[in-house]
Amino acid sequence: MPRKPIVGGNWKCNPKTLEEAQKLIGEWKNQVPLDKRKIDVFACPMMPHLLKVKLPMEKLGISACAQNCSKTGEGAFTGEVSAAQLKDARVQWTLLGHSERRTKYGETDEEVAEKVSQALAAGLKVVLAIGELLDEREASKTDEVNERMLKPVVAKVKEEDWSRIVIAYEPVWAIGTGKVATPEQAEETHAAIRAYMAKAVSEDVAEKVRIQYGGSVTVDNCAELIKKPNIDGFLVGGASLKASFMEIVQKSTPPPVLKKPKWSKITDLNPTTKGFNCMLKCTKAAAQVEGTEGVFEAVCGDDTGMCTVSFRNKDLCDICKEGASLRMQNAAVRMVKGGYMRLVVDKWSAFKPADEPVDFEVKTSNDVSSVEYELVDAWPD
Ligand code: PGA
Repeated sequence: MPRKPIVGGNWKCNPKTLEEAQKLIGEWKNQVPLDKRKIDVFACPMMPHLLKVKLPMEKLGISACAQNCSKTGEGAFTGEVSAAQLKDARVQWTLLGHSERRTKYGETDEEVAEKVSQALAAGLKVVLAIGELLDEREASKTDEVNERMLKPVVAKVKEEDWSRIVIAYEPVWAIGTGKVATPEQAEETHAAIRAYMAKAVSEDVAEKVRIQYGGSVTVDNCAELIKKPNIDGFLVGGASLKASFMEIVQKSTPPPVLKKPKWSKITDLNPTTKGFNCMLKCTKAAAQVEGTEGVFEAVCGDDTGMCTVSFRNKDLCDICKEGASLRMQNAAVRMVKGGYMRLVVDKWSAFKPADEPVDFEVKTSNDVSSVEYELVDAWPD
């Protein structure tokens, strides 16, 4: 089973006003909608904003994620927000162990592990950030540091609870610096993290746990990174404060799986047929239709009947030569009359030379020229 990609936006202590936060969500709304079946998306506004923009975000299919939670529960812990309080506020996710928490607020590996355990106990899902400093990378200690950070978490988390944890590998030297890890560097480290998980927890968890990459991810570099087999998405900082964050989401969404075409015969058609695929032999080369601006037409057929094929793309005339073997996929059927039909090549269709010559005799007894039809006026752009 391939892992479902997951992309998150870490807004950190931004933006300054609630109005700006709301405006950003409005801008995301105007982008291409995300497909929740194919990708998980979360965003982490700072706490007061989080609760205000949570609903509009969720309407876009984006889960609310806190940036931190307390290692303690409720009580005399001034300034803290407990995991259970987050859960009670219907926040489903929390980010934990971000490098800024570790380096600027002195959170230790043990404390982060304690927070993970609190969050899981409260029923939250966790994005666990790990990653090495520049001097640690230069000293070839990247894997060692990641394992050091994961180890106390591994010790505290039950195997079945790893399904509620996403690991965000964020090399600290890449965060906010514009110096993104190369796809090869990131892939190598992600693979090492997965190998550690296999050893420290289980093969099954290692196979299933999603590992995000974070650190200067942008619209321009995400497509190359997501191609790597062990990179399952991104934790995005600076670029998540822009409308184009949704483009990162789009680029991280797996492309649609192309179905194998099912080939049919002209006689199997009716006028409501959609997505018709057929093998054709051109009997009359394409030419511009008289009296039209840029509409071209060829006469083709199979062993059951004849058809005219219309298109607006002049380049297709090159493949529509007399005797050419052609394959048509996802054609729009505009008219069917006995053994005749009319196909239109629109932007959703493919009209190409056949991989191998088609070996049937075209049934020419039906004279397509006598068929009356109307020219279609609804042409695609
Ligand atoms: P960045 O931040 O994308 O701005 O580098 C990433 C992060 O801190 O999670």
